[in-house]
Amino acid sequence: MRIRFDYNNMMSDMIGEEYGISKEQILALQPKIKAAIEALKEKRKAGKTEWRDLPYTQADVVKDILATAEAIKNRFESFVVLGIGGSALGPIAVHQALNHLHYNELPREKRNGCPRFYVVDNIDPERMRALFDIIDVKSTAFNVITKSGSTSETMAQFLIVRDMLKEAVGDEYREHIIATTDAEKGNLIRIAREEGFKTFYIPAGVGGRFSELSPVGLLPAAVCGIDIEELLAGAAYMDELCSKDDVFENPAYMAAVLQYIAMKQGKNISVMMPYADSLKYMADWYAQLWAESLGKKFDVEGREVYVGQTPVKALGVTDQHSQIQLYTEGPFDKVITFIKVENFRSQVDIPKGYEDMPAVSFLGGHTLGQLLHAEQMATEYALYKAKRMNRTIILPEVNAFTVGQLLYLLEVETAFAGELLNINAFDQPGVEEGKNATYALMGRPGYEEKKAELEGRPKK
Ligand code: PA5
Repeated sequence: MRIRFDYNNMMSDMIGEEYGISKEQILALQPKIKAAIEALKEKRKAGKTEWRDLPYTQADVVKDILATAEAIKNRFESFVVLGIGGSALGPIAVHQALNHLHYNELPREKRNGCPRFYVVDNIDPERMRALFDIIDVKSTAFNVITKSGSTSETMAQFLIVRDMLKEAVGDEYREHIIATTDAEKGNLIRIAREEGFKTFYIPAGVGGRFSELSPVGLLPAAVCGIDIEELLAGAAYMDELCSKDDVFENPAYMAAVLQYIAMKQGKNISVMMPYADSLKYMADWYAQLWAESLGKKFDVEGREVYVGQTPVKALGVTDQHSQIQLYTEGPFDKVITFIKVENFRSQVDIPKGYEDMPAVSFLGGHTLGQLLHAEQMATEYALYKAKRMNRTIILPEVNAFTVGQLLYLLEVETAFAGELLNINAFDQPGVEEGKNATYALMGRPGYEEKKAELEGRPKK
């Protein structure tokens, strides 16, 4: 079951020469494309993009994850992820995509005996307190996820939870905590080893936002009963599709090349609009991947150059009634990516009624899926007519195999776009600056200089 990429509405032969991209423009970029392909290959060979090999390198890890997930399922009522950014958005997106949309509200037997699932990706005290109002820490497992092992938000959550657990279950608290982190670097690994937590490792060449197919995403998914082997098989399948050098045959390269040309033409906004509630949080995950990887500045002969495309999340059809007016008639500064699902996992019939009122009765006899498809097509048509660049990723169905493909496709697209833009898509100096300033403000030793720098800023 293969996902497909339809980029017709990006092209000038569809939306007009002035508005779209021509085949000639793509061909003219061939030397740049070739260089980008070689650069990515080199990085992969040198082990710098280990995230690309996750579908193949984790047989033992997967076994361990499945055994751990089974043990968690047998012992705990709730499973809570403590993490932020790349350590949270993937688990949220995959859970929403592949589990029941009201998973936590289902009785346990309808969750296949799996625990309730929560991801706390913020430090809002009200949200934290609210969590403790609905879970019992005595019957909860906590998965602390942080690649760096030092992110303030996650470590603060960890300290709170550890304290509560100690109070509630004494020395057994260690059995309630699973740490997912770097094998060498950071504080969490030291703590985990000293205190004897079950530990999973994020390989060195797997950055936060590229880590969903590592234990970061695989453990939470397995705990909720998601078939992680299928997820990885889907990613491996997409890797195969993305290994072709011909850009016209490679969906990730083509997606990146079109976005690159669009950016050069002033399309500074990338909207992701899934037409499926199950894929709603894929847009969140993609927003981080795209923004943090590509939003960069660099020097060209002493002059600062800024690149990147601002990601926007939208949901079909909900946001047709809030954002689409802007997309069809506002500035020509966007690329809209629809995600379309061909077959929904549930069918709901719209009953016939009000036969004397044709403006209502026309809906009867159709299904909600048909209405959703019609609305997606209608929106796509409206954008096409307004000569706005748009593209569609088509999932025959939402399942572990297609979601694995989708994640991998978007990761390779992002990495390839980074090469085309000549930037390092795998660092995040802008995020680090904020992290360091937080350490300084909160009094972390070693950040005194940063604190002085902060205090030296102009007073408001
Ligand atoms: O993609 C990234 O590297 C970041 O968004 C991180 O995922 C985020 O800052 C959290 O970092 P960590 O996993 O080290 O706690």
